[in-house]
Amino acid sequence: MSRLADRHGRVATDLRVSLTDRCNLRCTYCMPPEGLDWTPDEELLTNEELVRLVRIGVERLGIRTVRLTGGEPLLRADLTEIIAAIADLAPRPVIALTTNGIGLAQRAQRLRDAGLDRINVSLDTLDPERFRQITRRKRHADVLAGIRAATQAGLAPVKVNSVLMRGINDDEAPALVEWAGREGVELRFIEQMPLDAQHGWRRDTMVTADEVMAALAGHRLTPVSREGIARGSAPSEMFRVGGTEQVIGIIASVSRPFCGACDRVRLTADGQLRNCLFSRGEDDLRAALRSGADDETVAEQWIRSVAVKRAGHGIDDPSFLQPDRPMSAIGG
Ligand code: GTP
Ligand code: 5AD
Ligand code: SF4
Repeated sequence: MSRLADRHGRVATDLRVSLTDRCNLRCTYCMPPEGLDWTPDEELLTNEELVRLVRIGVERLGIRTVRLTGGEPLLRADLTEIIAAIADLAPRPVIALTTNGIGLAQRAQRLRDAGLDRINVSLDTLDPERFRQITRRKRHADVLAGIRAATQAGLAPVKVNSVLMRGINDDEAPALVEWAGREGVELRFIEQMPLDAQHGWRRDTMVTADEVMAALAGHRLTPVSREGIARGSAPSEMFRVGGTEQVIGIIASVSRPFCGACDRVRLTADGQLRNCLFSRGEDDLRAALRSGADDETVAEQWIRSVAVKRAGHGIDDPSFLQPDRPMSAIGG
C-alpha cells in the first residue's frame, strides 16, 4: 500500500533517481557546449545514502518501480553495485535505467546480471553527422552498439526515445520507425519540454505529437490499449504500425499532458526530493539523513512533500515558470 498520496487523488509508486547531473553528450536541447556547473562530490548522495532512501521508499512508502537516470547514469562507476543493492530490497522493485547508451555495449550484460529489468536509450537520428550536430559528440556508433548489446543481454524490448526538432531531424520519423521495426526496439517520439539549461524552448517551434502522427500517415498507426487502459499512468500513447506486430509510442507531454495520472516522484543526485518534474520547490532529504534522522522521520518528510504536489505542469499558463534546475539535473 502506497502512503504517497496527493490532494488530487494520485498515488506515487514510481521513483526516479538521478545518479549524477554530469553527461558525456551535450545535446543542444539540453545543455550548452561547455556543459554546466556540476554538483560537487560532497553534495552527491553516497551509495549508502542513495540505497537507504530507495529502501525507505520501497519498505515504508509503497514505491514499486525505481528508474535510474542522470545526467548520464552510466557515468556513475558504481552503478552495478547500486542496482544489485536495490534488487536485494523487499518487496523487490522493478529496476529501470534511462541512458544515452554511451558505454552500454561494454556494460549491458553486467547490468542485466546485477538485476536491471528494463532500459530506455535516447537516439534522435540515424545519421552520424546529424548525431554529431545534435549531441556535439561523435558517438553515434557507440549508441547503436549499446542498443544491440542491451537487446542481446535480455533487456528486450529496449525503448528508444527520440526528440524531433524542427529543421534538424523532423524529417526522420518514418526512417526511425522502420529502423526500430528492424531492430526490434520500441520507439517513442517525445515532445520537447521547457527544461533546457539555456531556457531556449519555444512552444511554436516544438514538433507536436500531431505533427509526428501526420508525418507517419503512411504507416497506418492504430491505437493500442495497454491492458485495457488507453494510457494509464505511463506517459507514452501506444500505436501499432499497420500490417505488422511493431508498436511505437508518442509522449505528448506538452500538447496532451498526462499529469492527472502521474504516479512519479523524483530524487536528485544531491538528495532533493521533487514531487514533479516541473516543481519549483524541493525537500532536502540529504540534510535529514546527514542530521541523523531515523527512517520513519525521513518517510514522513517524503509523505508531506508528495501531498502538496500541484495538479499539473501548467506549461500553457501565462504564469508558467521553468524550474531552476535543468532536466539533466532533475532526471529525465
Ligand atoms: P517507461 O515508459 O515506464 O519506460 O518510462 P518513461 O517513458 O517514463 O521513461 P523515460 O525516462 O524514457 O522518459 C521518457 C520521457 O518521458 C522523458 O524524456 C520525458 O519527456 C517524459 N517524462 C518522463 N517523466 C515525466 C514526467 O513526470 N512528466 C512529464 N511531463 N514527462 C515525463
Ligand atoms: N524535453 C523532452 N525530452 C528531453 N530529453 C532531454 N531533454 C528534454 C527536453 N527538454 C529526453 C532525452 C532522453 C530523456 C530522458 O529525456 O532525449 O531520452
Ligand atoms: Fe546528456 Fe541526456 Fe542531456 Fe543529452 S539529453 S546532454 S544525453 S543529459
